[in-house]
Amino acid sequence: MSALAQNYKRKNLAFTKGNGSFLVATNGNKYLDFVQGIAVNSFGHANKHLIKAMAKQSKKLWHVSNAFKIPEGERLAKRLVAKTFADSVIFQNSGAEATETAIKVARRYFYSKGKKHKNRIICIKNSFHGRTIAAIHASGSKKMTQGFGPKVPGFDHFEFGDHKKLKKLINKNTAAVMVETIMGEGGIKVIPSWCIKSLRQLCDKKGILLILDEVQCGIGRSGKFFAFEYSKVKPDIVPIAKGIGGGFPIGAVLMTKKVAKAMVPGTHGSTFGGNPLAMAVGNAVLDQLNKNLLNRVKKLSKYFLFELNSLKKKYPKIIKDVRGMGLLLGLQLFNDQTNFIKKLMENKLLTIRAADNVIRILPPLNVKKSEIDMALRIIERVCKQLN
Ligand SMILES: Cc1ncc(COP(=O)(O)O)c(C=O)c1O
Repeated sequence: MSALAQNYKRKNLAFTKGNGSFLVATNGNKYLDFVQGIAVNSFGHANKHLIKAMAKQSKKLWHVSNAFKIPEGERLAKRLVAKTFADSVIFQNSGAEATETAIKVARRYFYSKGKKHKNRIICIKNSFHGRTIAAIHASGSKKMTQGFGPKVPGFDHFEFGDHKKLKKLINKNTAAVMVETIMGEGGIKVIPSWCIKSLRQLCDKKGILLILDEVQCGIGRSGKFFAFEYSKVKPDIVPIAKGIGGGFPIGAVLMTKKVAKAMVPGTHGSTFGGNPLAMAVGNAVLDQLNKNLLNRVKKLSKYFLFELNSLKKKYPKIIKDVRGMGLLLGLQLFNDQTNFIKKLMENKLLTIRAADNVIRILPPLNVKKSEIDMALRIIERVCKQLN
């Protein structure tokens, strides 16, 4: 028996190395990896620029405390601010920490204004904001919170799309609405642009903050730096992680000056968050995340979606829906997706499940068209087998 705890249902597959979109397994087989650590490895495995940046920094300095200045972090924050709505950044190590920090920032903002009663956060039921105690209760999922009581207070929930309920939930104690711009774990549900826009208007009208969780859909995955850019809104707080580290654990909260002012010394901290090694990698990710790459993501996404929709037409009893944006794509099946994912794996294509019978397809942002074609051939082969 493994000495590792059994909190994951792992597949019987391990890898020795990776290169770009491919992984080589201990059994010698080569797999097309369209999981990429669940939307983490923005530039695939063993990206040369990331290796170089990491190697260079690792010979200079790995870690110093946030009690001191960290120029690599100053640089990454400055670049994130220049690229986005944000004026200020706090670095963390993971997505859950980033969403927790986002909640802290929202509450602290109202506290600093003398409105400490405004501390409730409204979220979508069965969304996903991470696995810490607060984040599971923010997610409002029975499955995730079961056995982890007592219930953390301060979160209210509405069903995806239930705008009436959302409006009803807002009261004098509400601090913020927090939603994923694209619900990843929840089954690649894209919140339409008009909806994000009205959400912004609603938050403004009610004097509350808008937190858009872009841990999974951010950092170029949607074809824009942030998925909410399609709706042209300016959120107040945005937690990020996954793609910004390209495989190295980095999380962050981006925020406007207005709310950042509340985060005075002593309000938040992290031993590892924003250390020089992580920041060097984050900077190397941003070096490669340019307009050309984003345009490529959009173009390849259009092609991939078109071809997946053709498969849906060809196999109408198997594929129920094709969802997603950029390279955050989902194939919704009529039946449970476990067997389909297993068959894809037998055919050397790695994908991962999401809620709603969805198979998530997450290639690296620099995927080649020929690799997408390879994946499409495998998906079609499995459709034929199961038809
Ligand atoms: C939208 C969203 N928020 C938060 C998280 C939590 O991130 P982490 O697993 O790094 O804690 C995830 C992870 O999948 C996510 O998709």
